[in-house]
Amino acid sequence: MAQRVEHLVTIFTFTGLCLTGLPQKFYSKGWAQWMVDHLGGIDQTRWIHRAIGLLFVSATVVHLAGALNALLSRRSGFTMVLNKKDFQDCVLQLRYYLGLTDEHPRYDRFDYKQKWEYWSLFLGNIIMGLSGLMLFFPTVFARVLPGQIIPAAKVAHSNEGLMAFFVIAVWHIYNAHLQPDVFPFDGSIFTGRISRERMLHEHPLELARIEGRAPDTHDGHRGHDAERRVV
Ligand code: HEM
Repeated sequence: MAQRVEHLVTIFTFTGLCLTGLPQKFYSKGWAQWMVDHLGGIDQTRWIHRAIGLLFVSATVVHLAGALNALLSRRSGFTMVLNKKDFQDCVLQLRYYLGLTDEHPRYDRFDYKQKWEYWSLFLGNIIMGLSGLMLFFPTVFARVLPGQIIPAAKVAHSNEGLMAFFVIAVWHIYNAHLQPDVFPFDGSIFTGRISRERMLHEHPLELARIEGRAPDTHDGHRGHDAERRVV
């Protein structure tokens, strides 16, 4: 449940930050001026961006605390950490796409693409959060760090923000909703429901464990398995 709430918060804060941040970056364009006018002017747009930014930073801190707590209390294992099998799966998947093999990788709960996306978001949040706070409170940071850090933070924040927008708008939306297996919308993030056919294709190792055909290796998947609703 907590993960569903976190995902909703990320959707709303990220969308809000793109809608209020990108018009500031492309301020000379007609569409950007139209958006800033409809948001109540540039001062209001900046304050909305900063307020949502603080929510975004808080959500990242809450996620980090929750993840650490789940790990320390052994409710979850290191299921998101990239391991040797992920690299082997990646090579096998590419060979499969190139028609060099008929063997398809057999994934568990998270495949290498999902792990990659998680860590990109996690690191991206830290870069955007830190650089955003530097732009928000420049004098505080310039007291303890060299002053050049502020224009550097601006360049990092601005370009990483644009890249994050494209990664989510193109890659994530395609993978999660527009690819042929799930088109036009995959609601499993909110319902936990997924067809057995898709599980067989996308997460066969997880399905075998859930159905008792494979031993529970006690490597911390139980919490995730309990959220699945295979239909
Ligand atoms: C992924 C999330 C975010 C995106 C996509 C984003 C995007 C942007 C963009 C494109 C700009 C304009 C930069 C330019 O003028 O070249 C900007 C400015 C700014 N952002 Fe963000 N941002 C995000 C998160 C944050 C966060 C977490 C904070 C921190 C509280 C923050 C605070 C600021 C500040 C202070 C500015 C300078 C404009 C101002 O003074 O209001 N942003 N952001």
